[in-house]
Amino acid sequence: MLTNQNDKGMYSFNIDKFYQNYLKGPKLFKNREALEPSFIPNELPHRNSEIEKIAGITACALKGDVPPNLLCYGMTGTGKTATVRYISQKLAQHCTNNPPWWVYINCTVVSTPYRILAHIYNTIVGKEKIPATGLPKDVILKKLLGLLDQLIKNSICFLVLDEIDILIEKKGGNEILYNLTRLNENLDLCRTSVIGISNKLKFMECLDSRVTSNLEEEEPIVFHPYDANQLAEILKQRAEIAFIEDVIDNGVVKLCAGFAAKEHGDARKALQLLRKAGEIAERNQSKKITENHVEKAQKDIDKDHIVEYIFSMPLQTQLTLTAIYLLSRFTKGHVITSGDIYEVHSELSSKIPGLKQLSRRRISDYINELTLSGIIIANTRSMGHYGRTKIIKLDIERGVVERVLSQNKKIKDYKLLDYKPIILQTDKVKIKNIVFKKLI
Ligand SMILES: Nc1ncnc2c1ncn2[C@@H]1O[C@H](COP(=O)(O)OP(=O)(O)OP(=O)(O)O)[C@@H](O)[C@H]1O
Ligand SMILES: [Mg+2]
Repeated sequence: MLTNQNDKGMYSFNIDKFYQNYLKGPKLFKNREALEPSFIPNELPHRNSEIEKIAGITACALKGDVPPNLLCYGMTGTGKTATVRYISQKLAQHCTNNPPWWVYINCTVVSTPYRILAHIYNTIVGKEKIPATGLPKDVILKKLLGLLDQLIKNSICFLVLDEIDILIEKKGGNEILYNLTRLNENLDLCRTSVIGISNKLKFMECLDSRVTSNLEEEEPIVFHPYDANQLAEILKQRAEIAFIEDVIDNGVVKLCAGFAAKEHGDARKALQLLRKAGEIAERNQSKKITENHVEKAQKDIDKDHIVEYIFSMPLQTQLTLTAIYLLSRFTKGHVITSGDIYEVHSELSSKIPGLKQLSRRRISDYINELTLSGIIIANTRSMGHYGRTKIIKLDIERGVVERVLSQNKKIKDYKLLDYKPIILQTDKVKIKNIVFKKLI
């Protein structure tokens, strides 16, 4: 038994037994890393035409000439980053003398103009030479130009700006892009080429026209979403590297591909699903990965997304959900109406100093939002003379809702999850917002 009740009747988990059993259990993974997003396989199925176009544009670097700046875009998980990294490896393999340099910048991590310049400089010298803050930007830019000519000399330096759209949203984003795409004008020996990658298809609209013309020297490379069959082939190739032979049931790859194809053909999602299914099978000591494990993995991933979503909701939406949580927690079979939610929401918001009471209409908007995100189900029911009302039910486990809401400081500090709504207190009644004690 891995779980049991201790003498106080509380749940306890036997970690020693868990690890012992885990070690004795069947081995499914041969190379787990092959399912990580950072893994670059030897081949990228269904990206032939994109590889061909980028290879054609960058080939001149083999002869020491400077390739034009380039943009790649397409939806998330369509292989943009993997393709550019793959090309960089191949180009290096074929360059016998003076191989090009590659500086990879993930703009979600390195996102300010200053940090981008510092990152390029530090990557080239291989040390933290430029501090994270402090120097004027034009000073670093000058230092960088000197370094490129001194160290890289007659070679090409590719600057890959991944998630470039994040940079454009930042102060000074257009300016730094302009500078980076025009470095060659101020260099004597070295030549640079910018490759921008984005999954925001409309980000070009936010660009300064001078930058647009620098970046669009070539027709942008568009990465289209994969269909279910293409995803299945990508998964098959990775599964062969990642898992021990014959541990995957027929149908597993197809099911993962099908789930991911429904979400705009995202290969990252497909790989995540396969990896999670493998991990669930392993934890359950199963000798094979089955379709059941994939279904379970999909549910887990959905749950993770919902948890994240609830966590990031504004306080008023979280309070609406708290009201639904309390109504469903304190009554069995209680029919929750939008009117009840409004009442409980008002009670909850009156407990937080300075919080505004909302109108029924606003609460109705929040209920719609929660319905659309799949957290609750709302059915409209006719109430005869009283018109129509919404009957609401939680559509995810109450425990999950409780766990996430309890992380909100205000909900926790004012103990809102333990509050018993007045409509559920048998000895009280509320009339026109005034609470009376029932006499009978
Ligand atoms: N054609 C392919 N063959 C093999 N693996 C692929 C292919 N396309 C994508 N992948 C894998 O899918 C995952 C996601 O790909 P990648 O990170 O390149 O997506 P992306 O287009 O850059 O997405 P995002 O816009 O979210 O950054 C990676 O693990 C990558 O190796
Ligand atoms: Mg990417």
